[in-house]
Amino acid sequence: MIRKKIEKEYNEKIKEITKLNKFYYEKNNPIVDDSEYDILKRNILELESKYSYLKSKNSPSVTVGFKPSKNFRKAPHRVPMLSLANAFDQDDLSNFEKKIMNYLNQKNRIEIEYSAEPKIDGISASLSYKNGNFITGLSRGDGKEGEDITENLKTINDIPQKILSKDFPNDIDVRGEIFIQNNDFKKLSDKFANPRNAASGSLRQKDSLETKKIPLKFIAYTFGYEKGLKITKQSEFLKKLKEWGFKTNPLNKTITGIENLMKNYKEIENKRESLNFDIDGIVYKINDFKLQKRLGNITNSPRWAIAHKFSANNGVSKIENIEIQIGRTGALTPVAKIKPINIGGVVVSNATLHNEEEIIRKDIRIGDTVLIERAGDVIPHVISVDLKLRNKESKKFIFPSKCPSCGSKTVKEYNSITKKEDAVRRCISEGFECEKIAIEKIKHFVSKEAFNIDGFGKKIVENFWKKNLVRLPQNIFTLDYSVIESLDGWGKQSVSNLKYSIDSKRTVPFEKFIFALGIRHIGLENAKLISKHLLSLKNFISLAETKKFDDLINIDGIGETQINSIKSFLVNKTNLKVLNDLSRLIKVKDTILVKKDGLFINKTFMITGKLEGISRAEAKSLIEENSGSIISNVSKKLDFLIIGEKPTKRKIEAAKDLKIKILSQAEWLKMLDKTS
Ligand code: IVH
Repeated sequence: MIRKKIEKEYNEKIKEITKLNKFYYEKNNPIVDDSEYDILKRNILELESKYSYLKSKNSPSVTVGFKPSKNFRKAPHRVPMLSLANAFDQDDLSNFEKKIMNYLNQKNRIEIEYSAEPKIDGISASLSYKNGNFITGLSRGDGKEGEDITENLKTINDIPQKILSKDFPNDIDVRGEIFIQNNDFKKLSDKFANPRNAASGSLRQKDSLETKKIPLKFIAYTFGYEKGLKITKQSEFLKKLKEWGFKTNPLNKTITGIENLMKNYKEIENKRESLNFDIDGIVYKINDFKLQKRLGNITNSPRWAIAHKFSANNGVSKIENIEIQIGRTGALTPVAKIKPINIGGVVVSNATLHNEEEIIRKDIRIGDTVLIERAGDVIPHVISVDLKLRNKESKKFIFPSKCPSCGSKTVKEYNSITKKEDAVRRCISEGFECEKIAIEKIKHFVSKEAFNIDGFGKKIVENFWKKNLVRLPQNIFTLDYSVIESLDGWGKQSVSNLKYSIDSKRTVPFEKFIFALGIRHIGLENAKLISKHLLSLKNFISLAETKKFDDLINIDGIGETQINSIKSFLVNKTNLKVLNDLSRLIKVKDTILVKKDGLFINKTFMITGKLEGISRAEAKSLIEENSGSIISNVSKKLDFLIIGEKPTKRKIEAAKDLKIKILSQAEWLKMLDKTS
C-alpha cells in the first residue's frame, strides 16, 4: 500500500520536474524560482535514496550529474554486482524466510543463521587483487559493467595495496562500500547535499589528487570472482577480511531467527543517530555459503539476502507560512505550514516550531527551505534551515506581541526555579475570555481523562463553537438537541447517542471535576490532592469568598505555583459562573476519604466479567474507600475474585486452584452492606 503511494508520488514529481526542465532548458523560460526547483530535485533524490525501487530515466539522478562518465574507462565485472531486495517489516522478513524454506524444501525444519550487516549508505566498489596486489577497482555501474576508478581508489587509506597473508586467495574481487564519515562531511556540507553525494562526487573526480583531499573510507563485506577461497560461512569471511587488513563494520553480527533479527534491527535503529556514518538498513545474508549456492539468484538479486530498510524520517520542504496556535494554558506555539512532503509514507504539511525562542535561535523565516524530521509519534519539527537557498528579500519572523486570538498582552514568565525567562510566550487572559483558549479548555473538559464524554471529539467542539452552541462547559449540559439534529452530518441516532453520552456523565467525582476545569498546573495528581483536602465543590467555590488560599499550602505536593494558579482562576467572574452553573446542572460527588482501617483492610480483590449497574471504576473506588485494593493477576496474593457476567473462565480456574474465595456481585455487595 505504502509502496504504491510512494511510487505514485514519485512519478508525479518526475512529471513535474520534466515539465520544469522543459521550460528551463528548451524554452529558456523558467516557471518557478531556483529554490523551488532545488526542493523538488532534492525530494526526488531523497525518495530514490530511501526507496531503492524508485527509478526513472527522467530522474535528475540520471539526467544530470553522474551519467556513466566519459572520464573513466568502462570494464566488465567478472561476476555481476547484484542489488538486494528490500524488506520493510517483520512480515516481509517472514515471507523472505518462508520462500527460502520452500525453495530448499524444508518445512521450518532448519534454523537459518544470518549474517546481519548494517547497510552503509555509500557507493559500492569491486577491488581486484592478484597475487596479493590491488590491480583494478571498478564502480558498480549497471552491475555488469563498471567504471575503472582504480587511481582514485588508490588514494583511500582503508584499501590495502598489498596483502601478504598466506591464506589470501591468489585471485579475488573484494567488494564493499566507499563512504564518508559524518564528521568529515560536515566540512564539505556546503558543496554536497548529503554524505552519499559527497562520497560519490569525490570518487568520480577526474583528477585523483582531488579525491585524495577527501577522507573517504572503505568497508569490505563480500566478494565477486574468487579462486582459492577456503571458507564456508559469511561470518568467517568477514573475520578473514579483517585479518587481511580490510576494515569491516563493527556492528556486524551472526543471528538466528526472525525475532532476533527484529530485536537487532530495533537496537541498531536506536543507535543510528549516534553513529559516525549513515546507514539506511540492515543487510541479512544466509551465513552458510553452501546454502547460498543452492539458493542462487533471481534476475537482479540473490535469493539468499535481503536489505531490511529503516523507515525514512526526514525530508526537505519549504515554509509557506508561520501560524500561531494557542493552547489551553495560553501558550503561543508557532507552527510552520510547509509544502506537503512524504516522510516515510506519511504526508506532512505542518511542523512545530516549538516556541518564540526556537524561531530566534534557528532564525526560521517564511519562505525558508528546511529539513523536517518526523520520528515515531513525535510531532514533525524543523531540524535546520538551508541558508544557501534563502531568498535575499526574506525578513526575520516577528513573533506577535499580542495574542492573535483575543488581542491581550502576551508575556514570557520568569521561572523562579530555573531563574530564567520562560521560552514560551503566553496570552495573559484568564481562560474562557480568549476564544482560542476557551475552545481548547472545552476540548479538555470533555476529553478522556476529564469528563470522558464519548463521541464528543475535538472536531465536534470546534463545530459547536462555530455554531454558537457551546461557549462554556455548562452549555454542554443544556444543549438544544433539535438544533444539532438539523446540522450537517447529524441524524436522529447520532444525536441520541450524544445525548446518552452526556447524560451518563452528569455525575462525576470531585477530583475529575477539578481536573476537567483545565486550571494551569493542576493535572490529575494535583486535582486528586486538592479534592482530598477540600472534599467538595461547595468548599472549592467558597474559597473565592473566604480567600483562604494560603490554607492550600498545607497540602503535601501543592506549592506556590499551583496556589497562584487556583487564585487567578477563582477571582475570575466567568470562571465562578462556570462553577456555579455546573453545580446546578450536574452532581459533583464529594470526596470520601479512604478509611485507613476499613472493612477490607489488607484485602485484595480482582473483578472478572461485567458487573450489573455499577462500573468497574465505581467498584474500584468502593473497594478502595473501604481500605481494600485491586490487583490485576490471579496469584497467591489475591484474597477475593468477584465474578460478574461473562467472566474469564481461566481466571476462575486459576483462583480455584489457589483456593481463593470466589464472590458473586451480590455476595460482595452484601459484605459492603455490613459496613454501612
Ligand atoms: S552485499 C548480492 N553487504 O547495498 C549482495 N551490500 O542494494 C549485494 N550494501 O549495492 C551486496 N552494505 O552498495 C552487501 N553489508 C553489505 C552492504 C551492502 C551496503 C549496499 C551495496 C549494494 C546495495 C544493495
